[in-house]
Amino acid sequence: MTRAAILWGVGEKWSVDEVELADPGPGQVRVKIHATGLCHSDDHAVTGDMPTPLPLVGGHEGAGVVEAVGPGVSRVAVGDHVVLVFQPPCGHCRNCARGRSQLCMNASLQDYGASKPFRARGQEVAATGDLGTFADATVVSERCVIPIDKDVPFAAASLLGCAVTTGWGAAVYLAEIEPGDNVVVIGSGGVGVNSVQGAKNAGANMIVAVDTVELKRQKALEFGATHAVASVEEAQALLAEHTQGRMADAAILSVGVGDSSKLGGIIDLTGPAGTTVITSVSPFASTTVDMNLAMFTLTQKTLRGNVYGGVQVHRDIPRLIDLYRQGKLKLDELITQTYTLDQINDGYADMHAGKNLRGVIEF
Ligand SMILES: NC(=O)c1ccc[n+]([C@@H]2O[C@H](COP(=O)([O-])OP(=O)(O)OC[C@H]3O[C@@H](n4cnc5c(N)ncnc54)[C@H](O)[C@@H]3O)[C@@H](O)[C@H]2O)c1
Ligand SMILES: [Zn+2]
Ligand SMILES: [Zn+2]
Repeated sequence: MTRAAILWGVGEKWSVDEVELADPGPGQVRVKIHATGLCHSDDHAVTGDMPTPLPLVGGHEGAGVVEAVGPGVSRVAVGDHVVLVFQPPCGHCRNCARGRSQLCMNASLQDYGASKPFRARGQEVAATGDLGTFADATVVSERCVIPIDKDVPFAAASLLGCAVTTGWGAAVYLAEIEPGDNVVVIGSGGVGVNSVQGAKNAGANMIVAVDTVELKRQKALEFGATHAVASVEEAQALLAEHTQGRMADAAILSVGVGDSSKLGGIIDLTGPAGTTVITSVSPFASTTVDMNLAMFTLTQKTLRGNVYGGVQVHRDIPRLIDLYRQGKLKLDELITQTYTLDQINDGYADMHAGKNLRGVIEF
């Protein structure tokens, strides 16, 4: 018997229940989860901002050990240490072939619906991102696991499943930061602080972190920000002063919940030809934005979405581990508190209270 944190209804707390876990079928592997991060995205399922099938085993930011493989599995073997990935690339669709595997056209694992591995209280239970890492163990497609070296700590590795990849890639691949660029990151939490690290790796000049919480501003400075302020207005004034009005080359929005009514103010932090990357998930029901479209046109700006930081997981997870080994990417320092699975609701309460850079459940 396995235990998992399940969301049974919108607005409810995570419920840690006993679950039945199916054996791995063809092409599937069973992974014993050792660590899983408490990403804000799972909370969008709780608040209902992001519609999701229910009941749901949450969690999409995990690392663990392969403990069983189904027929035909060739990518990993029992005993391998792995990072789990959502949006798993097939490797041969149009988007994978174009280096956009984060948008793989076969990522939704068509065969998955027939073989949901979790059952609880007598019914099938869905799994976030086809992963469900808020569980002692899960069964996933072999496409969803990337082997890693055994000396990488599980808690650090788990964050390569989402926070680090999404934030770092937002800066390096989606904002396309170049040496000397000025960058502003709005919302420097678990994901945003990795955009700060990505901007630093890309050779940015000014890296301005905006966060309402003092701890996050302090951490942002430790992770490579050159300035940390509490509001978009302060960032506006700071950039205007230090760039002779050229403003930021890139703005990256990574607050916990996107607010489309504030988009115009974020885009205004960038100068001509500037790029704004929206990492934050906004309520799905919100469909209007407020911005000066004429000025957007006449300053030739770019507004870009973000799926998984635009990373190619098979290239970038090993790349990020290399940077970690060289001391150029902080992973262990991202984890400000660890929890047991039973403490998951405390972990999310701490996230909302601004107490954590990243909370991680260790099993
Ligand atoms: N696009 C993707 O692929 C992807 C992947 C992962 C997460 N996300 C989204 O990224 C967002 C951030 O996730 P996270 O796990 O880092 O969340 P988090 O809660 O750890 O961090 C959010 C940060 O924003 C700060 N903040 C909130 N309101 C603010 C405001 N008005 N001004 C300045 N700062 C503010 C908070 O203090 C916090 O530090 C979420 O919306 C999440 O769903 C998207
Ligand atoms: Zn996430
Ligand atoms: Zn593909």
